[in-house]
Amino acid sequence: MTDRAPMLTNLAARYYADPAIFEAERQAIFRRTWQLLGPASRLADAGDYLAVDVAGWKLFALRGEDGTLRAFHNVCRHRGARLLAEGAGVCKVLRCPYHNWVYASDGALRHAPWFGEDPGFAVSQWPLESAHLAQWRGLAFIAIDPAVDLLVQLGDLPAELADYPIERYLPVEQHRFDAQTNWKTYTDNFVEGYHIPGIHPGFLKTIDFSRFETAALNGVVRMTSPQKDGAFYGGKWLWMWPNWTLSIFPGGMNISRISPVGIAATQITYDFLFADHSDAAADTRRRTIDGTCAIVREDFEICEHTQQNYMSGGYLPGPLSPRHEQSVAYFQARVKQALATCLPVGV
Ligand code: FES
Ligand SMILES: [Fe+2]
Repeated sequence: MTDRAPMLTNLAARYYADPAIFEAERQAIFRRTWQLLGPASRLADAGDYLAVDVAGWKLFALRGEDGTLRAFHNVCRHRGARLLAEGAGVCKVLRCPYHNWVYASDGALRHAPWFGEDPGFAVSQWPLESAHLAQWRGLAFIAIDPAVDLLVQLGDLPAELADYPIERYLPVEQHRFDAQTNWKTYTDNFVEGYHIPGIHPGFLKTIDFSRFETAALNGVVRMTSPQKDGAFYGGKWLWMWPNWTLSIFPGGMNISRISPVGIAATQITYDFLFADHSDAAADTRRRTIDGTCAIVREDFEICEHTQQNYMSGGYLPGPLSPRHEQSVAYFQARVKQALATCLPVGV
């Protein structure tokens, strides 16, 4: 009798270690998909902005003086400086910090001080490069050159959240984490609950792990588990293609963006949103936020050491669990599918 090959296997290590693959991902995935920008309520008033860096692409959305929300590349047309720091803020005058060029909130270049006389130069010819913007149920998304409409990319997510009043949840706090690992190493870990006994022993006590379920849907991985008394989560964790997450807890949720910084560097940005902003609920919010951040941090060390093994050449792809890791296989298949459009043969 011959051994049967395992049905599912992990990605080859080079996917996590080869700079050519990282560059292909920048072009085929991060340039072509909608990226979670943040809660749309952060963009309510004139001058409000949200800026992100995703795999090196710097983008921002800004509510103009005329009330219109617009999206741009966060790149000065002069010599390419970053205009706005990443995060949420208020910008009354859009002035480049490098040589003080000033842009109107609609992206038009208004003023290039001390530039000098050049008959070939006209401010009207140097507006900011625009980007695409879309909103869905209180969440704002930004894109450079989206391959599909936002709703197509979201796939099964609208159905998954139909029963949750997510637009009533408003932001309370943002936390950023840096992990020295590839964005896919982190994502592989996020989309499976298989590691909970090994990495999250405290969290394990709050769920019924024997009934932990993972489903790979269209554009979404859904993980659910019955909760025990004292659990602060709602027992539903969602990951969305290509790099954001949404987890439900009673009366709120968190959303996160998994942003590649380099081949072995990833920034994870969490926003915590709640329906009840009252002082009376402050302790509950604190417990939920701190508890979640502690669990998020527990994943970094194992992801970083795994990443080192992928980069060393010492890892050959192992089997994936049909019970717990078909979601990992789904994510990895989506990556391969996206890369097939642009990777040279043999890379
Ligand atoms: S790079 Fe922005 S003003 Fe020079
Ligand atoms: Fe984890």
